[in-house]
Amino acid sequence: MDQLVIRGGRPLRGKISISGAKNAALPLMAASLLTEETLTLDNIPALDDMTTMSDLLTSLGAAVEEVEGSNRGRTLKLTARPPLSTVAPYEIVNRIRASVLVLGPLLARTGQATVSMPGGDAIGIRPIDQHLKGLEAMGAKIELKGGNVIASAPGGLKGATIRFPFVSVGATENLLMAATLAKGTTIMENAAREPEVTDLAQCLVAMGASIHGIGTECLVIQGVDALHGANHTVMPDRIEAGTYAVAAAITGGELVLDGANVEHLGSVFESLAKAGVNISNGLGKVRVSHPTGRCRGFDVITHPFPGFPTDMQAQFMALMAVADGASLITETIFENRFMHAPELARMGADITVHGSSAMVRGNPRLRGAPVMATDLRASVCLVLAGMAAEGETVVNGVYHLDRGYEKLEEKLRAVGADISRTQDDRAIVP
Ligand code: UD1
Repeated sequence: MDQLVIRGGRPLRGKISISGAKNAALPLMAASLLTEETLTLDNIPALDDMTTMSDLLTSLGAAVEEVEGSNRGRTLKLTARPPLSTVAPYEIVNRIRASVLVLGPLLARTGQATVSMPGGDAIGIRPIDQHLKGLEAMGAKIELKGGNVIASAPGGLKGATIRFPFVSVGATENLLMAATLAKGTTIMENAAREPEVTDLAQCLVAMGASIHGIGTECLVIQGVDALHGANHTVMPDRIEAGTYAVAAAITGGELVLDGANVEHLGSVFESLAKAGVNISNGLGKVRVSHPTGRCRGFDVITHPFPGFPTDMQAQFMALMAVADGASLITETIFENRFMHAPELARMGADITVHGSSAMVRGNPRLRGAPVMATDLRASVCLVLAGMAAEGETVVNGVYHLDRGYEKLEEKLRAVGADISRTQDDRAIVP
């Protein structure tokens, strides 16, 4: 089992290139199922989740080819010519929850889709009821059998008005893709406004879809008979950019986030500014710095975009753990997303969790310790804490990081971090 070994206390200085967004690339790859023509995607990050989505699309009969592309990231050409399989197998679906994003496109294109139910995971139960209710409203018949969602719409999907009771990124994306090929008009109210949803909608428009209200909470989709191929560049990863902004602040360093889109980072930068972090944005370059690494205590509440992202909550907990004064985090999106708190406590952090809130009392001297990563963002929170701590931190369970942070050690080492990957010989592999 791989581990990351970090020796803390080094301010990071220099430039970090921001990769393409994992959470945008996943639905964009699934969108290739909507057409028999080729969808070319640039700026795909080299991550395990992309490999899993490629495997899934290939198992459905699509061709996924990596080609020489533009200057950034990888370029994939995805072509889903008939005949397509309509069964997304458990062995692949259980590797990433985002596999469920093939349900809408597959059903809209072929009238059939059997997709294994994604299980819960460390951060919560994560049901997919809103995906299924939306498809039913569009005329699909849904059966749950043997751990699978079996969906059919022999006469095709029909436009419908869908009002989400709460914001769901995945359900908005799945139903948006399905609606592009449904007969008639679909109206989605209380839709997610996350930049990744906007990126998907823009790509679908380039493929010939008719979508109004992009970037708002009301999406109106006029179904068309067929979509065609397109070229699209995946948006920069706002969570990766936010994570490196915290890395600059927590180490008392200064980083330029090359390629970050500040419009996607409003609430993250507002919170950092409240904490006393310096952020400047000139000539297309975002620069983040803090003189000491000891920010002021501050509060955050997670909300759907444009609110503070739940995917940045763990990283901010690390920053608060070493801040001057107390901070309060309230998590409103996932019910069990504080598993990093006890791990930070092993390093000397003073954190009290009460239900959906965590009180963090700053301690300027965290000490390195062996810690266990429990999910993707929790893993990177421990890396951040390790870079601020005295001595050596060993982060176990780093396969989570490989799902979501492209070349993490390489990028951090290039700006001065002391971080290396080793194998733990004592690990018991089940
Ligand atoms: C996506 C992101 C994830 C991020 C999350 C919230 C991807 C691949 N993942 O996940 O990184 O943390 O958005 O910004 O883009 N829910 C239901 N029923 C449903 C759907 C969702 O109850 O049918 C609940 C979830 O359990 C959760 C909340 O709604 O509590 C929000 O989930 P959702 O926005 O759907 O998250 P994902 O799309 O899974």
